Amino acid sequence: MRRAAHQLLDNPKIFDDPVALRIIGKESASALQADAHQFETTPLSSYLRAFVAARSRFAEDELALGVRRGVRQYVILGAGLDTFAFRNPFPEGVLHVFEVDHPATQTWKRARLDEVAITLPGDLTFAPVDFEAQTLEEGLRDAGYDPGQCTFFSWLGVTEYLTTEAVMATLRFIASAPAGSGVVFDYMISPSLLNPAQRSRFDGLSRRVASVGEPWQAFFDPELLTRNLRALGFGYVEDQGPEEINARYFKNRKDMLRVGSLSHLMNAGV
Ligand SMILES: C[S@@+](CC[C@H](N)C(=O)[O-])C[C@H]1O[C@@H](n2cnc3c(N)ncnc32)[C@H](O)[C@@H]1O
Repeated sequence: MRRAAHQLLDNPKIFDDPVALRIIGKESASALQADAHQFETTPLSSYLRAFVAARSRFAEDELALGVRRGVRQYVILGAGLDTFAFRNPFPEGVLHVFEVDHPATQTWKRARLDEVAITLPGDLTFAPVDFEAQTLEEGLRDAGYDPGQCTFFSWLGVTEYLTTEAVMATLRFIASAPAGSGVVFDYMISPSLLNPAQRSRFDGLSRRVASVGEPWQAFFDPELLTRNLRALGFGYVEDQGPEEINARYFKNRKDMLRVGSLSHLMNAGV
């Protein structure tokens, strides 16, 4: 919904996703078109919308660089209503997409695609995996993933909902991919590193997600996470905090759209 709202509310857009409005379903799309501000309920809403757009943009920018160095598989972890597979810009046969998601979410998404008549492209494979109950390796192997191919992974809006052990196990698997592979993911910063104003925003958001039964569980210190990623075998590790993200994507805007201070993206290459 936030990616769809970004298409309607923000000019210039930093993430162009013509499928976003379609995939949310006719009813939600009409509601959003009638009043695109309806989800902008708190001052934090525009930060969230900006971050949701920025993380997808960053992942797809890095994916494009990866394809130039030989990436031939794109694994979208916790894909949700990600639409990349339905607007894949690369010529047929260049990039195979694997959408990995919790089986329940994936069943729901597939019903939605059917409902809104979005055709499944030939270079997309669904891989149902519950990160807490099954390894990514098993799930991908069953889906026909080739471990010998250079692969790019994105993992957006997911790590905070998992245990630290599950997050690190998945990153360990990604680190074993061939040289030239990489991952972009966002993560929640450890609350102990926040100042009182940031802590109060964190507590508000944390209560909200816990109240709908999906509590945040994994938090990271950017410096420690960087060291741990290097220890796993990633040769290139770049943390993008709010200043970097805003400088990269939200410079000189008249509308002042930008991400908030809790936003962190990690970019790690094998
Ligand atoms: C907030 S959504 C993010 C969706 C998408 N990546 C995006 O950026 O819009 C969180 C996603 O994580 C997935 N997820 C949460 N817990 C999971 C688990 N244990 N195993 C697999 N997927 C999980 C959900 O199914 C959902 O698709």
